[in-house]
Amino acid sequence: MPQTVYNIAIVTDAGLVMNAHPNVTNARPIAVFDSGVGGISVLKHIHSLLPNEHLLYVADSIHAPYGNKSAAEIQARCFAITDFLIAKDAKALVVACNTATAAAIDQMRAKYSLPIIGMEPAVKPAAEASRTGIIGVLATTGTLQSAQFAALLESYGRNVEVVTQACVGLVECVERGELRDDSTKALLRKYCQPLLDEGADTIVLGCTHYPLLKSLIQEVVGADVVLIDTGAAVASQLKSRLLEHGLLAASNQIANVNFWTNSVSDNAENVIAQLWGEPVKVSHF
Ligand code: DGL
Repeated sequence: MPQTVYNIAIVTDAGLVMNAHPNVTNARPIAVFDSGVGGISVLKHIHSLLPNEHLLYVADSIHAPYGNKSAAEIQARCFAITDFLIAKDAKALVVACNTATAAAIDQMRAKYSLPIIGMEPAVKPAAEASRTGIIGVLATTGTLQSAQFAALLESYGRNVEVVTQACVGLVECVERGELRDDSTKALLRKYCQPLLDEGADTIVLGCTHYPLLKSLIQEVVGADVVLIDTGAAVASQLKSRLLEHGLLAASNQIANVNFWTNSVSDNAENVIAQLWGEPVKVSHF
């Protein structure tokens, strides 16, 4: 009897139809990286949506923040980390950093052949969610000054007023694990108040470190303000890309999650465990 080959079509959010590989699985790990620990906010969404996938996470903490670095410096870091992760047999790469995506994703896609998923501030969903027609965007200086962000505003920010705020120093608070400290709250007040004064009812958390401060940010801006980030959307896009390339893990695979950091802080492992929510294996690179 001839073997039946099933061909499944998937309609993505973007309305595209792709061929999937329903019977093909791949045990290799997914790699995720950020300038530091911020991308753990994205890693959590990935682990929750794809619980059978092995995950590798790299925190380039010694070089954090990326937000005030040149595009050339960020590209060099992205290439070095991608080489490291490909040597660990990564099957797909998530750039869990808005700043690195803006500075380097085009160069990375030109250089490497594995699927690379990046991220950008959630201007589109925020513009759709806003009732006042005024949205705020908290991000790094690098993201806000990038051509990609200008293009994002051009595409999705035309019918709303967009108030942007660079949050210098906030990434460092998260890197130190100061998620509930008074000094972190004071910095958040300073950065959020101008957005509230302008009437923003929806605020985009445009840096992956900021969702890790979500409860404190919500306290600062009040319960009526909607906070939006792109972690869930990135996880869902990753899943579509894995399916499209026949790279999903088997549904009975028991996932390993491994972390690497180059932080010189004695507290680096504790901060990673605190953000991940359970004890983890952290290696140094
Ligand atoms: N977490 C990063 C982002 O999403 C980078 C922050 C930084 O290193 O400045 O932009």
